[in-house]
Amino acid sequence: MMRDRSRAPGAGPDLVVRHAGELLTCAAAVAPDLGLIADGALAASGGRLTWLGPDAELSRAVALGPQTRVVDAGGRVVMPGVVDCHTHVVFGGERAAEFQMRVAGMSYQEIAAAGGGIQSTVRATRAASREELFARGRRRLAQLLRYGVTTVEVKSGYGLTVDDELRILEVYQDLAGAGPQTLVPTLLGAHTVPAEHRDRPEVYVDLVVEEMVPRAAEEGLARFCDVFLEEGAFTLPQARRVLEAGLAYGLRPKLHADQLSGGGGAELAAELGAASADHLDHVSDAGIAALAAAGVTAVLLPGAVFFLGLSAYAPARRLIEAGVRVALSTDLNPGTCYTENVFLMGTIASTHMKMTAAEVVRALTLNAAHAVGLADEVGSLEVGKRADLLVLDTTSHLTIPYHWGIDPVATVIKDGVVVAGEGIAEGGPDAAGPADSDHPDAAGRRPDSDDLAKRE
Ligand code: NIG
Ligand code: FE
Repeated sequence: MMRDRSRAPGAGPDLVVRHAGELLTCAAAVAPDLGLIADGALAASGGRLTWLGPDAELSRAVALGPQTRVVDAGGRVVMPGVVDCHTHVVFGGERAAEFQMRVAGMSYQEIAAAGGGIQSTVRATRAASREELFARGRRRLAQLLRYGVTTVEVKSGYGLTVDDELRILEVYQDLAGAGPQTLVPTLLGAHTVPAEHRDRPEVYVDLVVEEMVPRAAEEGLARFCDVFLEEGAFTLPQARRVLEAGLAYGLRPKLHADQLSGGGGAELAAELGAASADHLDHVSDAGIAALAAAGVTAVLLPGAVFFLGLSAYAPARRLIEAGVRVALSTDLNPGTCYTENVFLMGTIASTHMKMTAAEVVRALTLNAAHAVGLADEVGSLEVGKRADLLVLDTTSHLTIPYHWGIDPVATVIKDGVVVAGEGIAEGGPDAAGPADSDHPDAAGRRPDSDDLAKRE
């Protein structure tokens, strides 16, 4: 969502952020640390970053103009907007009753085999109107925005007919138009074999390969093609067929790989040059080596392991030590992880996968941007990149995984505009962030001043 904010030369930047106690740039050149600038500042124009440095150098480097909006972070942490790189945002219905069945001891696979699971969400999604899918998707995106998510990868996968899958992708197109987040759409037509094709899975795979993939690509509705490779979903040869069809139509592969059981998914993702291999709770040593050699980003989804009550978390340390770029994401979906709290993933990654606070921050930002092919645009704070950034309610990045279950985000800035949290309701031409109920200001805080430090 870019607006033309070109101004007369000398008019100064649109936005300046001052006094970031820790400005976490996550700039690529300084990996693996966070590119931390103490008492940092930045400037942005036309939605792009134009300057970053120590606050003490700001007045020499940047001439403020009459329209420059100044946000004072008051010594708090400023970081790139979060990239949630694996979500299933649009779906009909909810599965709270199934969750109770799991509480009573049934497994995810047992519920799926009994006709629940993905199939029950497919029934509810097919029955929902397009308006309903849009409205509920918009609410979930608004919730993600409160948690600082400025870029979201969004999958289809609950339609499982050509028309129903395309309809979900069209809803994503509408949601992208409604803003403010950047959405990255993925066709997941091969999420599971729909009930009507249960006895003829190959017929369904033919449909995905021959109709769904070509239409999603030709209509410009998807950037990636994904498959759920798992017992009870799709086999290795079927996954290869679908992903190769996607490649032929310019859709880059992604893969739900080695989630509930190991099955050579990481190896296939590496062989096909996938943008990411996701889950990886049961990845093999050979799979880890293959991901490292091929430069495939590992998207770890510890919220799904946690929410399913399982114990096999992905081997994050071994992946990192093998040189694999590791990202974290919610996997937001009604079955295996129903939460918009992306920071909670960082806490679970720390406690169960031994990822450090710095690794968590990079996994939620630059590494996640790699997983959606947008590392040149978002994920770090560098001159020329989008001015997507967060002011957190903390003065140290060490508290990001430590103070858990809360929303640590004070202010969300997308393309240089305050879109959620403190400062949202300010006047001025750029306070155009959504004032409607779908994008309430974060946690009901009442914005009444531009000077964030005053509300400390
Ligand atoms: O990523 N693994 C496959 N898909 C989802 C679960 C979908 C569902 O249960 O509705 C996941 O965990
Ligand atoms: Fe998923």
